[in-house]
Amino acid sequence: MAREIRFPGIYGLLFVLFVEHCTQGELTYSVQEELKHGSIIANVARDLGLESQGIDVRKARVEMEGSEKEYIRVDPRTRDLLIAGRIDREEHCGQKPTCVLKFDLLLENPLELHRLSLQVEDINDNSPVFQKDTVKLEISESADKGARYRINAAHDADIGQNAIQSYTLEQNPHFVFNIQTTSAGSKYGELVLNKELDREEQQELKLLLTAVDGGSPKRSGTVLIHVTVLDANDNAPVFTEAVYTASLPENASLNTPVIIVSAKDVDEGVNGKVTYEFGRLSDKSRKIFSLNEKTGEVIVAGQLDYEEGSKYELMIEAKDGYGLSSEAKVIIDITDVNDNAPLIYVKSLSNPIPENVSPGTEVGIINVQDRDSENNRQVRCSIQENVPFKLVPSIKNYYSLVTTGQLDRELVSDYNITIIATDEGSPPLSSSKTIQLSVADINDNPPVFEEQSYSAYVSENNKPGSSLCTVSARDPDWRQNGTVIYSLLPGEVNGASVSSYLSVNGDTGVIHAVRSFDYEQFRSFKVQVMARDNGSPPLSSNVTVSVFISDVNDNSPQILYPAPEGSSFMTELVPKAAHGGSLVSKVIAVDSDSG
Ligand SMILES: *[C@@H]1O[C@H](CO)[C@@H](O)[C@H](O)[C@H]1NC(C)=O
Ligand SMILES: *[C@@H]1O[C@H](CO)[C@@H](O)[C@H](O)[C@H]1NC(C)=O
Ligand SMILES: *[C@@H]1O[C@H](CO)[C@@H](O)[C@H](O)[C@H]1NC(C)=O
Repeated sequence: MAREIRFPGIYGLLFVLFVEHCTQGELTYSVQEELKHGSIIANVARDLGLESQGIDVRKARVEMEGSEKEYIRVDPRTRDLLIAGRIDREEHCGQKPTCVLKFDLLLENPLELHRLSLQVEDINDNSPVFQKDTVKLEISESADKGARYRINAAHDADIGQNAIQSYTLEQNPHFVFNIQTTSAGSKYGELVLNKELDREEQQELKLLLTAVDGGSPKRSGTVLIHVTVLDANDNAPVFTEAVYTASLPENASLNTPVIIVSAKDVDEGVNGKVTYEFGRLSDKSRKIFSLNEKTGEVIVAGQLDYEEGSKYELMIEAKDGYGLSSEAKVIIDITDVNDNAPLIYVKSLSNPIPENVSPGTEVGIINVQDRDSENNRQVRCSIQENVPFKLVPSIKNYYSLVTTGQLDRELVSDYNITIIATDEGSPPLSSSKTIQLSVADINDNPPVFEEQSYSAYVSENNKPGSSLCTVSARDPDWRQNGTVIYSLLPGEVNGASVSSYLSVNGDTGVIHAVRSFDYEQFRSFKVQVMARDNGSPPLSSNVTVSVFISDVNDNSPQILYPAPEGSSFMTELVPKAAHGGSLVSKVIAVDSDSG
């Protein structure tokens, strides 16, 4: 028995976001234009394979070269790529069939650049617009059936299905409407006479022409065609060329002639008198060019800027006295002049930098941009030579600012680093930017005593508390890393702790006697004083202080012989025959003082 298997149909809209991984890290996403602020495009962390890393720590940024505006950004929390500003496809890409915006996705630490392409899909956000509200035609009543009258087509800034799909002319007995394409590729409409006019029956006709696009919902625009019925009419003017081309440097001054267009009309009198006017023209072009309606000369009437627009297309209509017209296209190429100096952006800067960073540490990221094109936008970047920093070219027009040597805050605490960017135009233009960078302190210097050792002299019987001498140490580090505190190192003098003899003032280094000294007990002693800074961890050094005690006459002599004890009399035997001057006896006395 045969069995039939049916698959359910899949209906509904499917929006596909696709991602490609390339070795260089190119991401491609597709979005509709005019999406709401905050709409999620994709999860970039996942697409870059960085889920395990803190993308917020790496300061993910999305930038569009040459634009300060933010269109998309990375949410540091969810790591989603979000819409951050209005993206209007028509503003960026005009009539181009595909619209791709290029972004740089930057990650720091280490610096990493990913290209990000955003394909912007059209939505039907523009209505068809006719150049004018009303078109006036004067048509002879003798015109034959099949006679054609040119009507400028409407314009819709959208593309593809969202552009104009059809025209409808209000029901009327005389005219039908056709769309034609010129050899230059532009479209125009024709009002075709389907049934002869009769001026006596009807002097004028008002017909509403509607252009409709194919969007969903559809949008439309209308023009009123006002036909005045007259006598004989004849030939339309004919341009000498269908397409005129011209080229201009972007620094062309006002009133510079661009081109002269010319159309001939074989008729005589009013019928052969040709005037020129612009057909469909963007607001931008209208500000830059003006057309002499009699001579057909186009001149520069506004400020040109290659960076704002490198190519202009103007439609020019030639009309005879009765309104018969034809159209030609003028293509004007603007050539670049080196009129933009490079711009230097500091994208990231670690400031201050600790003085102990190793040589080769990245301290900043610099980006240079030049709005000119080709050689005029090739930029070389350098910094002055007398600083321990250099610029290392990184990806594209990014540079890393890295240290080239050991820093020492105690020698140089601030750097002004001047970056100079020069383009390769002729003459070249350059610009510079100065970065102020401070060096932060590290506790890398111990206090150093001004003397290798200290000696203090004091007379015995001094008053307790009297100051003996001052020790002093310097530490060039910053704030607490350079604040010196003095203290006595523990030790013993004659079996007693040094602190029972001396004290040191922790702030001033003044050494005081704690007690009165006795020369007869000891004549000198040594102590160790330490100077320590307040860093963490602290650094210290030690110094020896020798204290010398000098004598004061504080002891009476003592007679040792004859012995002072016992009888105060002493008998010495002297021989009778002793001559005067003979030794009788010796008296011995000592004094514990010196000198
Ligand atoms: C850096 O520039 C600033 C401002 O111009 C100036 O005050 C400072 O003294 C400079 N520093 C150095 C180290 O040249
Ligand atoms: C002192 O040095 C330490 C590192 O040794 C550093 O972390 C601290 O910021 C420094 N203090 C000051 C005030 O610069
Ligand atoms: C100073 O002496 C103390 C105690 O003996 C010792 O711990 C310290 O390391 C010494 N400092 C220096 C710089 O020699």
